[in-house]
Amino acid sequence: MFDGQDIDKMPGHWLLARMGKKVLRPGGKELTQKLIHELQITGAHNVVEFAPGLGFTASLVLQYHPLSYIGVEMDKDAIKLLQSKFRGSNITFLQGNAASIPVLTESQDRVYGEAMLTMQADHKKAEIIQEAERILKRGGLYGIHELGLMPDNLDEAVKAKIQKELSLAIKVNARPLTVSEWQQLLEANSFRIKKAMKAPMHLLEPTRMVGDEGWLRAARIAFNILTNGKARKRLLAMRRVFHKYGRQMNAVAIIAEKI
Ligand SMILES: C[S@@+](CC[C@H](N)C(=O)[O-])C[C@H]1O[C@@H](n2cnc3c(N)ncnc32)[C@H](O)[C@@H]1O
Repeated sequence: MFDGQDIDKMPGHWLLARMGKKVLRPGGKELTQKLIHELQITGAHNVVEFAPGLGFTASLVLQYHPLSYIGVEMDKDAIKLLQSKFRGSNITFLQGNAASIPVLTESQDRVYGEAMLTMQADHKKAEIIQEAERILKRGGLYGIHELGLMPDNLDEAVKAKIQKELSLAIKVNARPLTVSEWQQLLEANSFRIKKAMKAPMHLLEPTRMVGDEGWLRAARIAFNILTNGKARKRLLAMRRVFHKYGRQMNAVAIIAEKI
């Protein structure tokens, strides 16, 4: 998967996926589990996931046997993988942009997306949030898990510097926000914040890697990185930026209710 792409240019998350990593969100498996727990998904719920990627969270959510599950993902290789991995008459994967999806207005009980708003420009973030709001029933919940900046009053120049260096390292336009900015963006689009949770941004730290992937896969990922010079160079550059701004970056998960 993603084999045709050039390692020097590919987005950081697909590079990690190519090295064998399955958990591609900033707060890791633990913050995802908290997010899913807070969404309180039941067998009576219609659920939409924005950007399921490799399907890690989809596999957790499908254990609750929701009434229906729709995953909307932009990447066609990821869609193929998801379609081969998960089957069921109530499970659908659509290739497309989460900002505009063929799902009826006020038809869904739960919508969530991880590590996908961060990579959008601010107006695109708002469009995706508005689409979540459109498809949710009143009182329905929207969960996000994204890259955060801290503190809330972080200097604008520092923020711009982080966004620039991060984007260069991961080769994706990365625009993380502070927790209060994420909350304001949701509130400005007819959501009420129910809960905000944080975790350190330890995506490439050995302890998190083992916690997210397990010993065996973590060892395989380490082997793949060590035996691929180009990938190693890229991942070290990513890690350098994560370390440099370790005090300013975190992971944020928010549960918001449609009002
Ligand atoms: C960093 S990966 C995260 C994948 C997955 N949510 C996870 O946390 O493991 C970002 C994903 O978002 C998808 N994506 C980005 N923008 C999107 C959009 N506007 N609509 C649907 N998918 C999008 C990408 O194709 C990619 O699979």
